[in-house]
Amino acid sequence: MKVIGIETSCDETGVAIYDSNKGLIADLLYSQIQLHKDYGGVVPEIASRDHIRKTMPMIHEALVMSNCSPEDIDGIAYTAGPGLIGALLVGSSIAKSLALAWGIPALGIHHMEGHLLAANLSDEPPSHPFIALLVSGGHTQLMRCENYGNYELLGESVDDAAGEAFDKVAKMLGLGYPGGPEVAKAAKKGDHNRFTFPRPMTNKPGLNFSFSGLKTFVLNTINDLEHLEGTDIADIACAFEDAVVDTIRIKCERALKQTGLNSLVIAGGVSANLCLRDVLGMMTSKNDCKLYYPETNLCTDNGAMIAYAGYQRLSIGQSESLEIKVRPRWPLNELVAT
Ligand code: KG4
Ligand code: ZN
Repeated sequence: MKVIGIETSCDETGVAIYDSNKGLIADLLYSQIQLHKDYGGVVPEIASRDHIRKTMPMIHEALVMSNCSPEDIDGIAYTAGPGLIGALLVGSSIAKSLALAWGIPALGIHHMEGHLLAANLSDEPPSHPFIALLVSGGHTQLMRCENYGNYELLGESVDDAAGEAFDKVAKMLGLGYPGGPEVAKAAKKGDHNRFTFPRPMTNKPGLNFSFSGLKTFVLNTINDLEHLEGTDIADIACAFEDAVVDTIRIKCERALKQTGLNSLVIAGGVSANLCLRDVLGMMTSKNDCKLYYPETNLCTDNGAMIAYAGYQRLSIGQSESLEIKVRPRWPLNELVAT
């Protein structure tokens, strides 16, 4: 079975083809970062217009590079939410139009399920049940994953997502966008002992997160300094990264102990963070558990994860009408189990 995946939920156009016999046979990604850079964040209208320009040519290129013609394709998967409504509508309209023209099914995929299933594309995929930590620019969630599509929310951020906090702190430090990789890069040269930032909500029971206070703590630290110099930026980035990673470690360890499960899957843009992977790797091995994550290029938004999630659902016969419908807000635990 061959499935085209289309990802257009935010500022990346991703198109990929997943072949159930051969794996990924095309995987194209175009990032709009340059278009949004001057604004310090994603401008929704610019994002939608650019997805319109890029998606069809990328689908064509993916077919050419994989030596496929439309007759070889069995289904189309597109991101139906959560995300920016205009951007989602571009991917869904194209997917449904091609489905109608080619006489094949198109299926809307939950963006976060796509992130989660990206770990299945690695050499050593996880098996159910497991705990999933979904950490992206819009979500910080701990889920119990019993099976495909059977997700129980255990805890989530009550305010900013971890990735969002990275992006905002990067802005405060005068670093580029997206902030996560920039903060991580600056943190490498930082002194771990100069500042200690709080680990929010770790003294309270439960599995929720909060990163908004930590962000304010960073702002106050910056304001207390007379000038923000290179070493200050590195030291603050380092203390911030340590605080986010340590907070996540505490909550993940708690989720594993609370559920008695012994596998942890991390996914979403922030799961590309090397410090987070190291710390969670040590925590899981200390507890006789195993850590899984997607390959680095599949942690952030991409079409491959949508193609693969689409394959999982289309292969069991899941289908939907040709109506164009997207969900900018969409709780993951409302998905139909497969
Ligand atoms: O999953 P993603 O590409 O898009 C969403 O679904 O939101 O995640 C993007 C987020 C951004 O906030 C970005 O700053 C963060 O992931 N990110 C990182 C790293 N790479 C990307 N955060 C920390 N360290 C990284 N290496
Ligand atoms: Zn994402």
